[in-house]
Amino acid sequence: MPTTRDRSGHSRDDRPSGSSGHRPVLLQDVITSLQPTPGQAFIDATLGGGGYARALLERLRPGGILLGLDRDASALERFALEPVPPDVTVMLEHTNFAQLDRAAERIGRQVNGVVFDLGLSSLQLDDPERGFSFQADGPLDMRLDRSEPWTAANLLNREPESELRRILREYGQERWGTRIAQRIVERRRRAPLKTTRDLVDIVAGAIPRGAWPRDIHVATRTFMAFRIAVNRELEAIEKGLKAAIEVLASGGRVGVVSFHSLEDKIAK
Ligand SMILES: C[S@@+](CC[C@H](N)C(=O)[O-])C[C@H]1O[C@@H](n2cnc3c(N)ncnc32)[C@H](O)[C@@H]1O
Repeated sequence: MPTTRDRSGHSRDDRPSGSSGHRPVLLQDVITSLQPTPGQAFIDATLGGGGYARALLERLRPGGILLGLDRDASALERFALEPVPPDVTVMLEHTNFAQLDRAAERIGRQVNGVVFDLGLSSLQLDDPERGFSFQADGPLDMRLDRSEPWTAANLLNREPESELRRILREYGQERWGTRIAQRIVERRRRAPLKTTRDLVDIVAGAIPRGAWPRDIHVATRTFMAFRIAVNRELEAIEKGLKAAIEVLASGGRVGVVSFHSLEDKIAK
């Protein structure tokens, strides 16, 4: 039973970020819809700051199992340092949730629930070195998994203009995608794009001031679009959701928290 939320296609970059990046209301909704109970097995496919995982663990004890996945190794490293109640089993795996079925083999039985909290954690967003934020200058990286080779800088400096346009239109629903793609290509003929500031300046110059959105930063859609493309996020969601259904026990539930209309469409 997918529980999907979509707030008009805005990325998580628009939302206020708390220390763990979560609004308790969503956490509560997830717990209410997934109904974890003692002894059950759950997968948190997007461990992030561990807010959902901690809440699940409390309800799975005693005797339950939680497998936490993340594409970002630093999320797992942080969580591994946290104290865990002695009467539950925690397993952590650095993997793309597209391979969730393979990871789930470690549990040794079908699971009662899987949760996907899609997007970025505030820990990722707030670190300029990760290149996700238009608010602070940093390298054009945007990889969720830093062991993968393809960065936003590679994409922006190498993909043909038509592909940049498609990404902006399709993933960002950016109506100024044609102009932004043109400006990126013009700029990289002179010098490669290197920083998030380079990209913000291009977007701000490509969209006429009067057409800047009022409720979000002018570069929000562009950053979201390129992040989705760098990480092939939609492909991962499609595979991950199918895999989650495969590993579910009878009566099990899948919860999806999403703030993007394309993710929402796939989940539904
Ligand atoms: C919004 S955060 C999750 C926050 C988490 N629910 C919490 O309570 O802190 C999303 C996390 O999912 C991870 N992620 C995104 N796509 C992924 C994928 N395909 N496979 C595994 N992890 C992914 C990101 O690296 C990020 O840490």
